[in-house]
Amino acid sequence: MDSANLRIETRGPAVLITIDRAKMLNALDPVTLQELTAAVQDLASKPGLVGVVIQGAGEKAFVAGADIAAMAHMGPLEAQRHSETGHALVKALRSSPLVSVAAVKGYALGGGLELALACDFRIASEDAQFGAPEVGLGVIPGFGGTQLLPRLLGEARAKELLLTGDRIDASRALSLGMVHRVVPKDRVLDESLALVARIAKNGPLAVRVAKDVAQQGLELPLEHGLALEARAFGTVFASRDQKEGMKAFLEKRPPRYEGC
Ligand code: CAA
Repeated sequence: MDSANLRIETRGPAVLITIDRAKMLNALDPVTLQELTAAVQDLASKPGLVGVVIQGAGEKAFVAGADIAAMAHMGPLEAQRHSETGHALVKALRSSPLVSVAAVKGYALGGGLELALACDFRIASEDAQFGAPEVGLGVIPGFGGTQLLPRLLGEARAKELLLTGDRIDASRALSLGMVHRVVPKDRVLDESLALVARIAKNGPLAVRVAKDVAQQGLELPLEHGLALEARAFGTVFASRDQKEGMKAFLEKRPPRYEGC
């Protein structure tokens, strides 16, 4: 299942995708972006999978941004298409029934930060560095950063990062709520896989529906979000997993979920 710039391997209930362009700090060119989007979309329908973990090859960077050499000569229309290609990846991750984890070692800059923000979870190494340096290159973030950062951090903190282009370290990213956990470098992948394994113990249908409702609700007024939740809550009661989960609790035994 490998493609030119990706290594893809199954690790229990997770698939590990490694962006394999270490020489250029895993910078995302249009081909890699398309490969990543296609991989995330293909994996969504693979039975038995719960999550996808994304990491960069090598020790130095998760992803150091969109590939600047590939963008330098773009005109406005090509740049817009490039941005939309990045958005297709953001949408594929956010709408995927799989949970996604960015396993961030080293730099997550520009498009790399945006890729991490598009994932459901971010586990960072102690030496991770995050930032949106695009304004320093005379451009703006194009893979969702201007929209995802304010949603995640709030307007004030997002604008500080977006307009200064400053890099922040892992402990500051943790204090801002940008990352879920900071661990030693050699623990980042294991922690990311363990997170998927923990989620895999829950009812698979419930996990998918919870992600979907939380995701959709972010775009809705509270009243509509609550209505969406009530409908989804009703729907999961039509599942065998609901019967099994509650029966197992009452019988004081572990549940055996089927995902339906
Ligand atoms: N695009 C293309 N190549 C990149 C790259 C990128 N984003 N980041 C690093 N590289 C390449 C370097 O050009 C270098 O290649 P050569 O060996 O052929 O010279 C190689 O990776 C190693 O990088 P450095 O020598 O620069 O490594 P360093 O340790 O001195 O610095 C760094 C590391 C601070 C991350 C530095 O590489 C850097 O600033 N990179 C660019 C970061 C950036 O600006 N990212 C945003 C890109 S724009 C964007 O992402 C737009 C968007 O939202 C769509």
